[in-house]
This record gives sequence, C-alpha cells and structure tokens, in this order.
Amino acid sequence: MKQELYKRYTITSALPYANGPLHIGHLAGAYIPADIFVRYLRLKGKDVVYICGSDEHGAAITIKAKKEGTTPQQIIDKYHQQIKNSFEEFGIAFDFYHRTSAAIHHETSKEFFLNLYHKGEFVEKFSEQYYDAEFDQFLADRYITGTCPHCGNENAYGDQCEKCGTSLNPTDLINPKSTLSGKTPVLRPTKHWYLPLDKYQPWLEKWLLEGKKDKLKPNVYGQCSSWLKQGLQARSMTRDLDWGVDVPLDEAKGKKLYVWLDAPIGYISSTKQWALDKGKDWEKYWKKQPNEADNSCLIHFIGKDNIVFHCITFPSILHAHGDYILPENIPANEFLNLEGEKLSTSRNHAVWLHEYLQDFPGKQDELRYVLTSILPETSDSEFTWKDYQARVNNELVAILGNFVNRVMVLMHKYFEGKVSGTSAHITDELVKSDIAKAYTEVEESIGSYKFRQALAAVMDVARLGNRYLTEKEPWKLYKTDPEQTREVLQNCLHIIGHLGVLMQPFLPFSAKKIFAMLHINRDSVDYNTPVWFEDGHSLGQAELLFEKVEDSVIEAQLNKLKERANAAAVSQSTAPAKANISYEQFTSMDIRVGTILTAEKVAKTKKLLKLTIDTGIDQRTVVSGIAEYYAPETIVGQQVSILVNLEPREIKGILSQGMILMAENSEGKLTFVQPAEKFEAGSVVR
Ligand code: 2FM
Ligand code: ZN
Repeated sequence: MKQELYKRYTITSALPYANGPLHIGHLAGAYIPADIFVRYLRLKGKDVVYICGSDEHGAAITIKAKKEGTTPQQIIDKYHQQIKNSFEEFGIAFDFYHRTSAAIHHETSKEFFLNLYHKGEFVEKFSEQYYDAEFDQFLADRYITGTCPHCGNENAYGDQCEKCGTSLNPTDLINPKSTLSGKTPVLRPTKHWYLPLDKYQPWLEKWLLEGKKDKLKPNVYGQCSSWLKQGLQARSMTRDLDWGVDVPLDEAKGKKLYVWLDAPIGYISSTKQWALDKGKDWEKYWKKQPNEADNSCLIHFIGKDNIVFHCITFPSILHAHGDYILPENIPANEFLNLEGEKLSTSRNHAVWLHEYLQDFPGKQDELRYVLTSILPETSDSEFTWKDYQARVNNELVAILGNFVNRVMVLMHKYFEGKVSGTSAHITDELVKSDIAKAYTEVEESIGSYKFRQALAAVMDVARLGNRYLTEKEPWKLYKTDPEQTREVLQNCLHIIGHLGVLMQPFLPFSAKKIFAMLHINRDSVDYNTPVWFEDGHSLGQAELLFEKVEDSVIEAQLNKLKERANAAAVSQSTAPAKANISYEQFTSMDIRVGTILTAEKVAKTKKLLKLTIDTGIDQRTVVSGIAEYYAPETIVGQQVSILVNLEPREIKGILSQGMILMAENSEGKLTFVQPAEKFEAGSVVR
C-alpha cells in the first residue's frame, strides 16, 4: 500500500470482550501489529487516530457472570479496568480506549439501527429459535453449542464455529444443547430484524473480491472468497437477550442488538468520545468527505475469527448507511499457539499479560520483540518459552544490546563520553547506504503489514553495527590512530541513533532508553528529524538494554503451564454444577445413618453387592454398585448414609429398598459417606 496516498488514518484494533484478562494471543493477533503501524505513521507525521475499547455486550459476558455467580456489570467493570491496564503497560498506544457500555455507544448503535430500519434495509422475519424451557429463555448464540455441520467440531457455538471459522445460525448445529441446562432446546417463534447479506453479495464481490484482490493478505482474501462462493444469507441483527443495547423499536421490547452489530460501531462511538474530549471532529475520521481525496484511510486490525464480521458484515452495514467510509484494508492475523497447543482460556493454557508483568517486570519490550518475530501473519504460529529465551539471549542481548553497550563503553573509555567535531553524518559510505536500504525495507514491510520482516530489517542494522565494529577493531586501532578510532565510534553512535529511530514502533521502551543514553532529549525521534550530535555533546552512561534470561526462569514458566494443565484436567472431570433446588425439595429426602449387617455379591454381576442394613427404623435389603471398591467381608459392621424414602426398585430380581450414599472422585472411585464417629443407627442426616 502506498502510505503517501493518505493524509489521515483511522486505525482500529478488535474490541476485546471484557470477560477475562488478556493473553499473548491477543497481543499477537490485533494489537502489536496495529501499534507498530500506528507508531510508524505518527513518526511519519501523519494524522492518525487509533481506537479501541472493551466489548461489553453479548453472551460472552452474561455467561461469564453466570459462571462466577455475579452480574454482567461487575464482570465488565472488573475486566475493562484490567484489560486497559495491560494495554497501557505494554505500550499499546491507543488514542482512546472506550467501552461499549457507555451511553454514547448505546446512542450511536441505536442511531445506526434506526438509520437502516428507516431505509427499509432490514428484513423482518418470524423464525423458530431455540428456547430453554427449564430456564425460560431464548438461547442466543453462545448459549447454545453443538456439532459444526462443516467440520464436525462438537463444541461449535450457535453463531460461529471457532475451529473452521464458519459463521453459523443456531439451527445449523447438529445435536444442539443449551449451555444453561445442558438439555436439548425446543423451537419457539420470535421476531427478528435481518441484515440482507444476500442482497449485498453482488456489491461485496465487486468491492471486496475485485477491488481488494491485490491489497488483502492471502489468508484474509481466501476466507472472504470462500464465504462469498458459498453464498451469503441474511443474518439477524437482533437477539432475545437481557444484556446489550436495546432495539430502539416499540415492538421489540426486551430485545437487544446483536453484539456483532454494536461492537464494530464501538469504533465509531469511541472516536466520538475521543473527539469530544480533545476538541476534534470525529466525522473527518469516519465519514465520506466532499472531496474523496480527503477521506480517512480506515484499517481494521483483527484476529482470524473476526474476518467475516469486518470484511463482510460491518462493511455491508456501512455501505447500507451510505455516509461512511469503508475499510481500506483488514490485515487479520491467524492464531498464536502456545507450547504445541491452542491457547485456551477455559483450560487456563495461556501466558496472561498481567502475570507476565509480575514475573518479568520492566521486560515488556522482550515480549513485544518475541511476539513480533513470530506474528501469525499468514498462518498459525507458535510461542514457546525456550524460543523466548533464545530470541532474547541470542538476539536482543547478543546482537542489539551488545552493540549499543560496546560503543558506549568505548566512547567513555577513550573519549570520556564526549562527541567532538562536526559529526552530523556517517562518514563510511557503505554503512550509510546500508542504513538507507534498511529504512526502505522497514517502511515497505510495515506498509504491506509484514511486521516480522520489518523487525528483521531493524535487527540487521544492529548486525551491521556489530560487523562494522569487528572489522574496524577500534580497541586495537586506538593504540595507533586515536582520531580514526573516534571516527569509527562516532559512526557507530549514528548507527545507534538510527537504530533508536527504527526501533520505536517495535520496542518503544528500549528506543527511549537509547535516546536517554545518547542524551538526546526528545520523547520520540521522527523520520524527518534524524539524530545528530553537536560538537562537544556529552553522552549518558552506558546501560544494559536487555538481560539474559536464565534457564531457571524458563523452567518456572514451563512448570506453571504444566501445573495448570493438571489442575484443568481435574476440574474438567469434576461433575458440572446442578440447578438449584428448594429447601423443601432437600428436606423431602429422608437420609439416615445405617449399619451394614450382612453383605454378599450379587450372582453374575461385577459391580453389585446385596446388603442388609439396620436403618434404625427397620432392617432392609439394599442393592449397591460398590463391589469393585469393597469386598463384602470387609464392610460388615461399617456405618453408611442411606436414603430410606427412595421408591423401592427391583435390581437383578432383588427388591432394593433405599440407596447408600457414596462419594465419587474424578477417577470414578467410590467411598462411603460415613458419620465421623460411631453413631446410633437411624440418626437423621440433614
Ligand atoms: O471476538 C472478539 O473478541 C470480539 N469482542 C471482537 C469485536 S471486534 C469489533 F467488532 F469490535
Ligand atoms: Zn466448523
């Protein structure tokens, strides 16, 4: 892309759901690439607004609240703050980080809906939707899981299969189950407002497939064209939910906007709030300008699972509205895996950003560096702790940090840290031209969203510096020719200055350290005002930019992941919680302490024992499936808990009167639930 074409940029990163903390997959998906891009544009003097915020609606939030036994409001308040902090700590340079629960967002979303509604864009349909009779509610999207009809993934959601990325309707799922009751839901009629994507299909083919063939990344283009090939269907933009933006129609009481309608509008409402706070004009960043050349360049940075919404749904909404610009590009990344497995919030298989900051204080750039080096730009990629260690030790420490340190130390050793003479330029032609090439390479790579390549080009400048030092050997040269030595080292200082400039989008914290070390009193050094030193300029002290990561640190991280995997395995085998019962239901059970009088195996069965129990009320026969855990002769005389008012049933021809209560662990092992001391038979358990 020719960045020069645009004066103004509107850059967005996907709004993260405020239902949990951020992990490295978030950073690598939609935030680090956008942050690099934005920082670069700012250094080029462009007018940029970089917008994001928390996505606080949708079933992701209500389900989390239910799981934690709290309210959606408490969930979003907690995670919005935590997410915002993590972004700040990692230097993600948003101009504004907003939240979709804000009033301005609700208003903006309703306006959008009404705009399309009054234009007659929506198709209104009654349809049969899944309903959980036990919980007395319709099941939107994530409240329903089942088998994906496209790839067979058994845990696909009602709106999307996360495995193959296909966007679904709940009725597409095979074997649908309610996530509330675990039961098969029933169908009930309800009215909703549909966005006619089928109607927009011809326009989308032209705008996206033809118009952006050479612009979109191959992974993005591939998904879009396969979507359009399958043929688009109308998608409902409203839901039967009690959390979200109200559908602004009298006849839609109790209904909310679909989270995928309101979330991308969050980019706009966030820009509005930023403009209000800063006295700017938000429309310049979002609306078509009278002169097309003045339009802002809109770019959405997202992860793979958001491609369809940003390439098809949201542009269709903007197009239907008519006043808004459309995205110039949607540079989506694929997924980042961790130690050979998918990152998983539910299994706690992740490197959480707030934990990283605790374990590696002040080492944000190290993680930014490693993640940028392995960004899943065109296919899934993998983070491993060993690789983290290798990249930090062999690249940041050994190449970049080492070069800077050697030069600084030598300047202090031979020249008391003082630059002398006119030293505005690099005097070595070869070095000069290599640096110029590096700038071109970095700029072209960033412009085409190849951030890995861009970072490699920056590191090549550090390599060039090391090579130049090794070749010139100033430590030997000084003995014979101090002036020549000064020239070499001052050339190296310029290389460091360029490194600082080039590093800024990628390693903003370290770039600042470099400028501080060079005593360049500027917060950032843009592309048009290069670093140069006055005669007599005195340098700061040499400081190490990066530290080696020890084996023990990596072991500790790997152990943490292992322990979590074990904990997750145990908790996943724990039986799911059941729905609440009333106190009356509980007291209707008559549970007593009983004593086992006789025990024998039931013939031709493996699991069953026939017991005679003294219940205090009577002596009765109970058949119990405990033969694999207890030999009959060992349990006579033991006390048990027995449900005595259970309907008698015949088991293997024996009338069983009651049930012995057993505790079952995650491996299915059974053990008696007994009184802690010998108790009278017939004592009530309650
Ligand atoms: O997938 C997600 O995490 C969504 N919260 C992304 C929303 S992006 C945008 F539309 F706001
Ligand atoms: Zn699938």
